[in-house]
Amino acid sequence: MRRKGFKEKLKAFLPEAEVERFRSSLEIVGDLAIIKLPPELESWGSRIAEAILQTHRNVRAVYQQITPVQGDFRLRGFRLLAGEGGTETIHREHGCLFKTDIAETYFSPRLQYERLRVARLVQPGEVVVNMFAGVGCFSLVIARHARPSKVYSIDLNPKAYHYMRENILLNKLAGIVEPILGDAKSVILERLRGKADRVLMPLPEKAREYLPYALEALKPAGGWLHYYEFLHAGRAREALSQAFKLLPENLHGFRLKPEAGRIVRSVGPGWYQVVLDVEAKP
Ligand SMILES: C[S@@+](CC[C@H](N)C(=O)[O-])C[C@H]1O[C@@H](n2cnc3c(N)ncnc32)[C@H](O)[C@@H]1O
Repeated sequence: MRRKGFKEKLKAFLPEAEVERFRSSLEIVGDLAIIKLPPELESWGSRIAEAILQTHRNVRAVYQQITPVQGDFRLRGFRLLAGEGGTETIHREHGCLFKTDIAETYFSPRLQYERLRVARLVQPGEVVVNMFAGVGCFSLVIARHARPSKVYSIDLNPKAYHYMRENILLNKLAGIVEPILGDAKSVILERLRGKADRVLMPLPEKAREYLPYALEALKPAGGWLHYYEFLHAGRAREALSQAFKLLPENLHGFRLKPEAGRIVRSVGPGWYQVVLDVEAKP
């Protein structure tokens, strides 16, 4: 990537403040670039996209995100601005390959640090349940960087399940990561009750509703939950202190103790994604 050239090209037709705002919102997934265009920059879309293609040698196509992340499958709408079309790509992260289709599955390179952070907490031999696995990113990074005995990896979206299966093979992690298609609630009740040392809940929209099922998946001796939420707050610090008050002290026969928390990312003005690492003891 040649970022400096990109900035200079943008400066040729955009005001300096827009250039900075714009550069920070550029997302690269595999060989695709994704941009969001505020209404005042909409007419510059094609020129911006051409500038990206000219200065980012590994980018094949530039897409404009035209809807927010939405629906049960957490999908975004895209419009091709420049380059060769096709929304399927392979993204590299932490020594793993993630094949994905950005229009048909959820994928965010912005969770990169969080995936490795959680992987580093996993102890040898642990059984992990990833309730909302997408194309398998957290599960694969855990299996690559820790030594779990099993990572049950659930998703409701048949396309995400399809890519998850491919990614398990691509990364040679069959037997460790087990892909499961279905609703995390029913999958846990039907086949994962009392099995897990650690449960990941990377779907803030459903975290509260699915918390009892996450606890249902834990071994009777307890374990750890990674609980994700969106919070509105004036500042990041306030969002974090709110986060520590989110969960009840006792639920479903477990005592819940948030041992750590962090801001995963800012998702809008005064709006944060937070994670709590929660110890659950009987
Ligand atoms: C925010 S994405 C998770 C992304 C993933 N952890 C990653 O790192 O890329 C949430 C995922 O949950 C899935 N999902 C939504 N409702 C679900 C449910 N009830 N049970 C299982 N998966 C569900 C969606 O299809 C989506 O892929």
